[in-house]
Amino acid sequence: MELSETLTFDPGDPAFLADPYPTLNRLREAAPVFYDAEHDRWFVTRHEDVRTCLRDKRLGRNFRHVMTSEEIGVPPLDPRWQAFWDSERWSLLWLEPPDHTRIRRLVAAAFTPRSVEALREPVAELARETLAPLTEKREMELLYEYAQPFSIAVICRMLGVPLDRHRDLLDWSHRMVKMYEFDVSDDVATAASDAAAAFRDYVAGLIQERRANPRDDMISALVQARVEGGRLSDDEIVSTVIVLLNAGHEATVNTLGNGMLAFARHPEMWARVVDGEVPASRAIEEMIRFDPPLQLFERWVLSDGVVVGGTPVPRGAKIAMLFGSANRDPRAFDRPDEFDVTRSDAERHIGFGGGIHVCIGAPLARIELVASVDALRERRPELGLVDEPRHTGAFVIWGLQALRLRAR
Ligand code: HEM
Repeated sequence: MELSETLTFDPGDPAFLADPYPTLNRLREAAPVFYDAEHDRWFVTRHEDVRTCLRDKRLGRNFRHVMTSEEIGVPPLDPRWQAFWDSERWSLLWLEPPDHTRIRRLVAAAFTPRSVEALREPVAELARETLAPLTEKREMELLYEYAQPFSIAVICRMLGVPLDRHRDLLDWSHRMVKMYEFDVSDDVATAASDAAAAFRDYVAGLIQERRANPRDDMISALVQARVEGGRLSDDEIVSTVIVLLNAGHEATVNTLGNGMLAFARHPEMWARVVDGEVPASRAIEEMIRFDPPLQLFERWVLSDGVVVGGTPVPRGAKIAMLFGSANRDPRAFDRPDEFDVTRSDAERHIGFGGGIHVCIGAPLARIELVASVDALRERRPELGLVDEPRHTGAFVIWGLQALRLRAR
């Protein structure tokens, strides 16, 4: 194969988006790392290298704490989208130590194994309740009708956010996360920034309210927390609440959509879950491995001397880790292109990341997914597709527009 032919990559190409895995497989087998001049990024394709990058402290989600934009030739943040940058400013996904450590510690206090485990039964109950009215119909749409209201209700309950504006929350989140895609247009950035401004105002109101009337919820806990002798600022709390709300449903919803599509296409696998041979807790790991809801994460190279997969990558460069490619790496998984819920190696997937930014919500996501799969196997033991679902057109946040299911 010609290298130039193999190592090009357009994440916006509809042909690629229709089924990215053949291209990802080709890229991964051609090279562990390749530089794409058009996107000015170093793509990392293999499981072991992605794992190593995630844990490498010389790589950061941000560079601004150690380098200037001019130093590495990156344009400054566009002031037209200031409201979006403000909302990100104190997000865990924007920060590096020491600020990251300070805020993550507070959030982690709410996500202890015990507090998340206490949610298992209420979450299972909520899954059954949300699904019940839908399964009386012959056809249902899984994402808008079930997964979105279910997931947003779980994270809202944890944070103490009322549910009356849940469609606004979903809308703000959908518009904001488009900023993580490649080649963001001005219109998309304006919509994201407007959404961030509305979201900030809403959360700022909740903070004031909880400061006056604290409750047993996470917003109250963040308002009252003492950290290094001081309190969190309102800007810090706003960013933290927004990242938890957004991260707290986008990936979970898409995991369910992508995974249930895989089941609809592999009824023999669904039968094993329905009859209890494979527990939901095991099936969800294969759902995340086989078709992960987040396909790409980036890191800046903060030091000299970084080598990835045998290739030196210069300080100031941007690395893009391809999760879907890593999760199909035959060096890490047996028959990686097969959706097989009985496999024993699924849990090696890197769907929740690793290192200091490893998903803080993973235990909660697992509880939600188990609850959903269990509710579905009880209520939808026979899965049929009403029509062929379409992807959203985005690659980084990878999911379906809709998934219409019917009883066979
Ligand atoms: C199946 C569902 C989910 C998947 C696949 C997923 C995946 C990920 C990944 C890969 C990262 C690391 C990003 C990086 O290293 O650059 C991450 C971080 C994060 N996730 Fe999740 N996530 C899921 C659900 C959730 C839920 C339910 C929450 C809500 C509580 C959540 C909150 C977060 C937060 C706050 C971070 C940032 C952590 C940090 O930067 O320190 N995620 N997630």
